[in-house]
Amino acid sequence: MTPMRVEPLPESLYCRDQLAGVLVTAEQIAARVAELGAQITRDYQGDRPLVLGVLKGSFMFLADLLRQIQLPCGLDFITVSTYGDEAISSHEMVVVEEPGAPLEGRRVLIVEDIVDTGHTLAWLADWVGRSAAEVRICTLLDKPDRRETPVHLDYVGFEVPDEFLVGYGLDYAQCYRNLPYVAVLKPEVYERPAES
Ligand code: PRP
Repeated sequence: MTPMRVEPLPESLYCRDQLAGVLVTAEQIAARVAELGAQITRDYQGDRPLVLGVLKGSFMFLADLLRQIQLPCGLDFITVSTYGDEAISSHEMVVVEEPGAPLEGRRVLIVEDIVDTGHTLAWLADWVGRSAAEVRICTLLDKPDRRETPVHLDYVGFEVPDEFLVGYGLDYAQCYRNLPYVAVLKPEVYERPAES
């Protein structure tokens, strides 16, 4: 995979001073999402998959991807969280909000914004797999350098370097999700001591 270039930010961007540049442009995202949608459409031809978005980060990718899937698919959401005290290194997760639709017997396509250590998706694929007939994973971004546990990814938009990424659904402290591209957050923003 060719190394990704960091592109300049728009002059008028409200948070320009906090970002180092654009890693994946809106045009690159749109083109890749169209390819992924076409591939998913081919792979599930004649079937009726349940697309399961993992909140919150996947919401923008999911909305664009769904419009590129030419199938009578279902849609639902799930919210998961790390269980208990984060100071104790446990990768046990908990489902905060369960999907409304039954998963039993369905072919479920989990949609994520990013796979980092892999703990969330490894756990979630197992959880969904206890009910579903089949589980596949589609992620916009894959950060393999950070992987701590193996997770099989069926559809990947972009392999990305180990930078703090925000935008197109991804946040830092619940900000930047609304950017229409994936940008690199400057280290001084997330290394800054919390305001008291
Ligand atoms: C992000 C992302 C994945 C998870 C990936 O979610 O959406 O769910 O982290 O990390 P991992 O591979 O190291 O487990 P986050 O917890 O930031 O919540 P959000 O989706 O609400 O932004």
